[in-house]
Amino acid sequence: MRPILLAGTTDAFARRLYGAVDEALRDRVRLWSAPPTESGGLESMLQANPALVVIGPGLVDSVAIKIAERIDAERPEVGVIIVLQALQGGGTTVEGAMAAGVRGVLSKDSDGDTIRSTVARAVQAADRHLPGAEQTAAVSRARVTTILSPKGGAGKTVLSTNLAVGLASRSPRGVVIVDLDLQFGDVGYALGLKPRHTIYDAVASSGELDITTLKMFLTHHKSDLYALCAPDEPARGEVVTVDAVERIIGLLAADFDHVVIDTVAGLSEHSLATIDHSTDIVFLADMDIPSVRHLAKVVAAFDALEMTRQRRHFVLNRADARVGLSMIDVAISAGLDIELQIPTSKQVPVTLNEGNPIILSNPKSPVSRAIWELVEKIGGKSGREQPMTLKRSA
Ligand SMILES: Nc1ncnc2c1ncn2[C@@H]1O[C@H](COP(=O)(O)OP(=O)(O)OP(=O)(O)O)[C@@H](O)[C@H]1O
Ligand SMILES: [Mg+2]
Repeated sequence: MRPILLAGTTDAFARRLYGAVDEALRDRVRLWSAPPTESGGLESMLQANPALVVIGPGLVDSVAIKIAERIDAERPEVGVIIVLQALQGGGTTVEGAMAAGVRGVLSKDSDGDTIRSTVARAVQAADRHLPGAEQTAAVSRARVTTILSPKGGAGKTVLSTNLAVGLASRSPRGVVIVDLDLQFGDVGYALGLKPRHTIYDAVASSGELDITTLKMFLTHHKSDLYALCAPDEPARGEVVTVDAVERIIGLLAADFDHVVIDTVAGLSEHSLATIDHSTDIVFLADMDIPSVRHLAKVVAAFDALEMTRQRRHFVLNRADARVGLSMIDVAISAGLDIELQIPTSKQVPVTLNEGNPIILSNPKSPVSRAIWELVEKIGGKSGREQPMTLKRSA
């Protein structure tokens, strides 16, 4: 069984956690004494293949959060709990921890029951998806992000193309966008591309598809992004089987840092097949109540199918202040935690028609700012090279 590592802990907290967790988990608890803040320390800790890392309370909170962000960026399948110095302080530290993708937040003073249930939940979530998670870690370390919305026209193509361009600015030539709207996909159009090849050519090519052949069918975009565009004729989309899509996503995930997948509205077989390869799902809802309700149903279906390994991001598009509050009420009552709101802007259709993503043509606009936030959540604040200071709290 994968271990539960206590990193940057204190003797007192480690003893309390050990005493609090269920007996079945006790055997898996290990102290990780080398500070994960040192260069190489984090890598060797992750090589121990933990199910869960409990960070703190022996570290400065901001350092603990940075470590969580790093784990989240590099090994999203590893669960993280942060133990903060204190939970008060306007909640900003807690928010920072949640934004870093942690599964639970404790304080050094949390009681035994809270520690027990938080650890149990986090380990359960990590273990439930062990086979898939290990497979993903072994095959690739790419972040694979699928954009989904139950309703058509919610803004999937706008969001996926801008997200991919944003990620490419951090990882030039390391990002590929795949258009899985196989009949009417317009990723190429949104990026102003004239693709010579499409996913149809990749699937119709003779012999077993490998990454070298697949790369011949990608189209380069000026932002140093690659695109695997949808077929230019709807009938050609029929040729693209679910198996072929799975193979393509697997090959791209093994080679690129990021794969961004635009999908057709609703839940197609093809989009569902990509979920298994995804580390992140962006659920996109338009600014109307049915749209949010449909989204809640999709999320409930994912829970029922135990498709819960992927990090979920809930994004509300065309959000404006006028109807914002009531919409957020609906979202909350449906159990959706809206992470990001993209405002309405007349520039969006204009940039779409010009084939010039708004994140490039107007990077400071409110729409671009919102999309940059998602780029950070998925791509990390400044990537893997972010330095960490070695600091211990008194
Ligand atoms: N934030 C926004 N402000 C203004 N217009 C927007 C915004 N987001 C999307 N749009 C517009 O909404 C329309 C649909 O967007 P888009 O094509 O991205 O949706 P989609 O979900 O990909 O649609 P489909 O389901 O047809 O693939 C486009 O004309 C686009 O310009
Ligand atoms: Mg679309």
